[in-house]
Amino acid sequence: MERLETDVLVIGAGAAGLVSALDLEMYDVVVLAKAPAGEGSSSAWAQGGIAAAVGKDDHPAHHKRDTLDVGVELSCEKAAHVITYEGPALIDALINWGVNFDRTDEGDLCLGREAAHSFRRILHADGDSTGKEIMRALGQAVQNSDHIRLISDATAYDLIEKNGRVIGARASRHDGQKVTIFAKAVVMATGGIGSLFGYTTNPEESCGEGLAMAARVGAKLADLEFVQFHPTAIDVGVKPMPLATEALRGEGAHLIDSRGVRFMPSVHKDAELAPRDVVARAIWRRVKAGEKVYLDCREAVGADFKNRFPTVYGYCMEAGLDPTTHPIPVTPAAHYHMGGVDVDLNGRTSVDGLWAVGEVACTGVHGANRLASNSLLEAVVFGRRVAKDIQAVKAIDVKFEDANAETSGSLDLSDQLASVLYGAAGVERHEAGLYTALVKVVGWEEKQDSFSPSFKNKLMAAKMILACALERSESRGGHFRSDYPDTDAEQAHRSKTSLKEIDAFIRGLNIGVNIQGTIQSCQTLA
Ligand code: FAD
Ligand code: SIN
Repeated sequence: MERLETDVLVIGAGAAGLVSALDLEMYDVVVLAKAPAGEGSSSAWAQGGIAAAVGKDDHPAHHKRDTLDVGVELSCEKAAHVITYEGPALIDALINWGVNFDRTDEGDLCLGREAAHSFRRILHADGDSTGKEIMRALGQAVQNSDHIRLISDATAYDLIEKNGRVIGARASRHDGQKVTIFAKAVVMATGGIGSLFGYTTNPEESCGEGLAMAARVGAKLADLEFVQFHPTAIDVGVKPMPLATEALRGEGAHLIDSRGVRFMPSVHKDAELAPRDVVARAIWRRVKAGEKVYLDCREAVGADFKNRFPTVYGYCMEAGLDPTTHPIPVTPAAHYHMGGVDVDLNGRTSVDGLWAVGEVACTGVHGANRLASNSLLEAVVFGRRVAKDIQAVKAIDVKFEDANAETSGSLDLSDQLASVLYGAAGVERHEAGLYTALVKVVGWEEKQDSFSPSFKNKLMAAKMILACALERSESRGGHFRSDYPDTDAEQAHRSKTSLKEIDAFIRGLNIGVNIQGTIQSCQTLA
């Protein structure tokens, strides 16, 4: 067993974790991740770009308005203020770390357009390789720093808690070696939950483990039912699904059905640039009815595709499909978690010693839906805020002692879990489906001891999402209930909860009693 001590442990090496780590230069920082910086993170796969009000006629107030509008009454106004007003400074910071955003011949930043943004304000790099470029620069800055130790072959599976304070984490290196890291402050930056779902744009590393670890030590959670499905994941049988960036629709690409008919103008006044959930549902309904849906870029992008969108072009060509001459088959896929570990405006969780940042956290900024390209922005703005807050904490005297770790097995049912979750908590949800899935997951939980630590975390994350989706009996943003298709003004509030409360809710459903008679009990609910 390897044992390390540090001032700050950052779990996750995406944009959020690396910005926090880089800004903590007066401390010894260990960054622990499943893969080297630039790999195994959604940050590295980001295409469209990062939003910030840096255009001539734009203003953070406009950006804030757009952010709040898309959140369907649930966005936290203060958090929206923070990311939109502090955004431009973080763009400067990224440029200082060496990020080369695309520029015009005159040297001005090129600004793209995406759905529900009232101005062109999406900064991008190498066309659609924004995340790769940001992570290249941040990774380089980490290498050049002498305060960060990077462990990039380990999966954290448990937080260590002592007298109500988080003092470290347990992890497993890819060669099976266990490692315990003690720290005065722990930053959870493990990204999202996409790969818990059968269809996703996320890397397999984004599977909700950080959410579960934080929940287990009692951290408050928020808005877990709100999952964003990206409308245009490329449907060519590849897992995870490559993304066809929204920026293509921003440039005028159309969605068409198998007869070549454009359908979005009859669904929403903004057609292809309607909010993501609206577009995703319109596509999903066609796919569910057995139709194929395509993104037609032939006219809007045409021969320029390879230069302007090299990443998407590469994905298409690998699948034997030339997007300059053929429409791209698309379907919605789990893309982003609006919910997460509940944090304040400094990224503090409800548990001492634990901060959360990036997609694993819920600042509340996205409400029930997320404006495109606001996620990288939130990751870097709050990455810096977390670092500042940790510096403000008075020196604490922590005794680094570990309690006994739980024993566990090696069984992993991730594929089965992914198909259960996509089926029940996908683009359209309903009570009977959610209930059946919960019964299954709770049944699996009873076999805890045989599961790998990682799968236990995935199972817990899935359970919490299902329970929260079952509890919200309305449709709002990314959460659509076919049995409650309307938005209910009475439910215009965020869902603040905890693992304890979720388990109490599930106990109230009498699932334990119903496991044997699942189908019967679901029929009565349906
Ligand atoms: P990530 O970048 O996902 O990093 C998480 C890190 O945690 C990784 O290093 C991972 O290996 C590590 N990790 C996870 N679990 C563990 C564990 N148990 N132990 C140790 N390490 C762990 N947003 C935008 O704003 N603009 C875009 O253009 C955009 N495009 C996107 C395109 C794609 C294909 C995807 C998937 C997402 C896109 N998003 C975009 C969303 C955005 O990329 C993410 O929300 C954001 O990058 C999350 O950053 P993060 O640092 O929180 O997490
Ligand atoms: C995309 O490029 O379409 C993804 C942008 C985002 O998720 O913000």
